[in-house]
Amino acid sequence: MDGNGRWAERRHLPRVAGHRAGAEAVRRTMQAAVDAGVEVLTLYAFSSENWRRSVEEVSDLTGLMRFYVERELETLQREQVRLKLIGDPGAFGPELSGKLHAALERTAANNRLTLVVALNYGSQAEIAGAARELARRAVAGEVTPEQIDEAALAGLLQTHDLPPLDLLIRTSGEVRLSNFLLWQAAYAELVFTETLWPDFDEEAFKGALAEFTRRQRRFGGR
Ligand code: IPE
Ligand code: MG
Repeated sequence: MDGNGRWAERRHLPRVAGHRAGAEAVRRTMQAAVDAGVEVLTLYAFSSENWRRSVEEVSDLTGLMRFYVERELETLQREQVRLKLIGDPGAFGPELSGKLHAALERTAANNRLTLVVALNYGSQAEIAGAARELARRAVAGEVTPEQIDEAALAGLLQTHDLPPLDLLIRTSGEVRLSNFLLWQAAYAELVFTETLWPDFDEEAFKGALAEFTRRQRRFGGR
């Protein structure tokens, strides 16, 4: 979800206005995903590198997340959306953590869309963590090095309980993955759009899905 700052800048508004508009785009996109029958939607809300931003911006983002988690809980329930978190969301302080925890518990049995929010997430750290755990198990004699394969590593990623990633969308004209789901994106179709995240809507989402269906997926075959 990229382009909030530029969206605000173009309107001579403070960056936080872009983040607020971005939060509305989250609501629209989640609804579009539910309506399209998508099984899992993962949103990169805050990367482990976003801490480099000003204290003010981080605090604006944290405040917005607190507000929306609370406000949208009803929507999650109505639409039967299950919330899942990846990353290390504890770093945002007890208030947001508490609200997130409550939302996780209340939506746990929902079975339409799984909404995965990546918070304080970094893919390289996730992969390193899985490797560390495998090393620990090897030292403990629980696995042999020969038993360590793709499935063993994938089983220790935070996405271990999710289906394979099919489509990855990046907005705002940037063409890079920025430490998002690197392992999981091995065979994903990538869609890059010029649309700034706050302008993303059902039409843009459907456009990306249409692009996805036009792709020929070969998974290394021919
Ligand atoms: C939103 O867009 C991404 C978040 C970390 C919330 P940006 O804040 O990166 O917007 P640009 O790239 O400055 O336009
Ligand atoms: Mg950006």
